[in-house]
Amino acid sequence: MEVVVTRDELHKQRHALAVKHHHKEMERPLIGLVPTMGALHRGHRALIERMCAECDVSVVSIFVNPKQFGQGEDLDVYPRTLDSDLSICRAAGAHIVFAPADEEVYPPGYSTTVSVDGMTARWCGQSRPGHFNGVTTVVAKLLGACRPDRVYFGEKDFQQLQVVKRMVRDLDIGIDIVACPTVREEDGLAMSSRNQYLSPSERRIAPRLYAALKRMAACYSGGVQDVESLIVEAKQVLYPSGDDTIKVEYLAIVEPEALTPRERAQHGDRALIAAKLGTTRLIDNIALTGGEVG
Ligand code: PAJ
Repeated sequence: MEVVVTRDELHKQRHALAVKHHHKEMERPLIGLVPTMGALHRGHRALIERMCAECDVSVVSIFVNPKQFGQGEDLDVYPRTLDSDLSICRAAGAHIVFAPADEEVYPPGYSTTVSVDGMTARWCGQSRPGHFNGVTTVVAKLLGACRPDRVYFGEKDFQQLQVVKRMVRDLDIGIDIVACPTVREEDGLAMSSRNQYLSPSERRIAPRLYAALKRMAACYSGGVQDVESLIVEAKQVLYPSGDDTIKVEYLAIVEPEALTPRERAQHGDRALIAAKLGTTRLIDNIALTGGEVG
């Protein structure tokens, strides 16, 4: 595995590996990318393993992108664990890790923002103004630097996934976005680099987010379509006997592409939740399928 910090080195390594992995029967090797901010866990690892299984050249980027953090957010304390991240990438089979410094990504004079309108005004975009502009800008840059054929994103950040898909479609970028299922702890809590901020008592109740989503999906499967009723069900799980440790920022059922809110749930819709436990903000989501609830 090669670790590179500049775009030049990335291009050289990418080219060298593309030549090495070139199979005679193929037109050209398939390049994969998993963009991350490091602090890698089993959720990231699942994305990297899938990329390595499906692509000839597998690139992981590690960059804590300052542009997607708002004022007062956790940029300064965001966990930085490069050594352990590199071990995870190596064990998962990555060929290249691209870990640029801030100045490599945003050199002096940098002036461009990529902005997706509409769907970024809602949900996480409402409580984190500018966040998605930071995400689309850095993802556009990483796509330019790495030129992958396929990029892997987790469904854990469902709005991010849909915003990036919209950008790729709108700008005719012509790469495949592969959505990967959310990896969870045994008690259902979606794995996140931010889970480590939770106090032991917050950590004990954090699985209620997913339990509430599962309750909604189960009620939907059982025939309840009215969103208000589904939200009442979820709140019973979130606030048992009036415990209000979980401060819900939003809880909604949305159409799964533009993420517009529904009043009546439909097959394939998504239930989304964001909540604060103390100072830690957690998000999660689930599909309403009408079938099995996992
Ligand atoms: P980060 O939070 O490091 O996540 C990187 C990728 O891992 C994202 O696609 C995210 O959805 C996925 N991921 C995180 N937790 C997961 C889980 N429990 N199960 C499955 N996938 C999971 O998301 C970002 O970084 C940044 O916004 C980025 C896209 C890198 C742009 O800076």
